[in-house]
Amino acid sequence: MQKRTLGNSLVVSALGLGCMRMSFGDKPTDRREMISFLHAAVDRGITFFDTAEVYGPFTNEELVGEALEPFRGKVVIATKFGFKHDPVKGPNPMFGLDSRPEQIMRVAEASLKRLRVESIDLFYQHRVDPNVPIEDVAGAVRDLIQAGKVMHFGLSEAGADIIRRAHAVQPVTALQSEYSIWWRSVEEAVLPTLEELGIGLVPYSPLGRGYLTGKIDENTTYDSTDIRSRNPRFTPEAINANRVVVDLLERIGARKGATPAQIALAWLLAQKPWIVPIPGSRQPERLDENIGAGNVELTPDDLGEIDNAMSQIKVIGDRY
Ligand SMILES: NC(=O)c1ccc[n+]([C@@H]2O[C@H](COP(=O)([O-])OP(=O)(O)OC[C@H]3O[C@@H](n4cnc5c(N)ncnc54)[C@H](OP(=O)(O)O)[C@@H]3O)[C@@H](O)[C@H]2O)c1
Repeated sequence: MQKRTLGNSLVVSALGLGCMRMSFGDKPTDRREMISFLHAAVDRGITFFDTAEVYGPFTNEELVGEALEPFRGKVVIATKFGFKHDPVKGPNPMFGLDSRPEQIMRVAEASLKRLRVESIDLFYQHRVDPNVPIEDVAGAVRDLIQAGKVMHFGLSEAGADIIRRAHAVQPVTALQSEYSIWWRSVEEAVLPTLEELGIGLVPYSPLGRGYLTGKIDENTTYDSTDIRSRNPRFTPEAINANRVVVDLLERIGARKGATPAQIALAWLLAQKPWIVPIPGSRQPERLDENIGAGNVELTPDDLGEIDNAMSQIKVIGDRY
């Protein structure tokens, strides 16, 4: 697998692996199976794994920490802080935000233990906390970096101004934000800022939460543990209306001998050499399919055709 560099120096496989759904927001999985799956991902050349304290909460970090312990130093694990903790239930997006410096310190210590590492490779703020100046957040992460407990600072879903202010205090290595062929808002102000400051982009939900693979139709059902059961882009009406996007990916894919998922990922890889998507998957054959995107070359004509077609498509349903 080819490598890409985030920021100045964080070298990772060109495609990472999103681990969230192994423990959060999807059907429960078997722990042993997921450990084998994570080992298979390493065998196939993936060196970049994405988790967060809130996934589970905690169990996803524990799973990733246990599975990747034998590969310490050979893989990069990114995790995230920033959701408020209930004293009993831990963090949850429903509880609000908490990026106070003292909380960041507590989360870092706990994540280090769960991940079984001496230093967190990449520590993202999961969401910007309007109650804590971003300079204080960046300052707390800078202190953790100086103490050797964190290697790189990241932000998630931050706007251009926040990125710039954070970067002035502690250089930001990567921004993680939703980015895919059907959600492109980062292109307006964020991508130029990242390019100017030398910050990498890690697109999350690069497969549109599975929709862009073409394997979801109006008969696909989700149980209540799956966040798509409440997602406006996954109503039967939206699924039908947005089929034109999959048709486009299939049309380009037919020419390239590639699947829609591979075209969706190849499109992201073609945008900038410092973009590293993190598709989530839990099945070896899907992992192989997604990794195959690295061999799909989209020409300027292909990219122009996609841009042109997408500019005429109105995607139905909010992304959350
Ligand atoms: N920073 C944030 O706020 C944030 C928010 C959301 C997600 N994330 C991160 O981004 C990662 C990926 O996002 P995501 O899971 O929401 O969306 P995604 O990667 O766009 O899609 C994942 C879904 O697609 C399915 N899938 C993957 N490859 C496939 C293939 N080749 N064919 C058919 N289906 C396929 C997966 O199924 P299976 O799992 O069943 O294989 C899963 O249901 C997460 O794991 C998480 O680490 C971050």
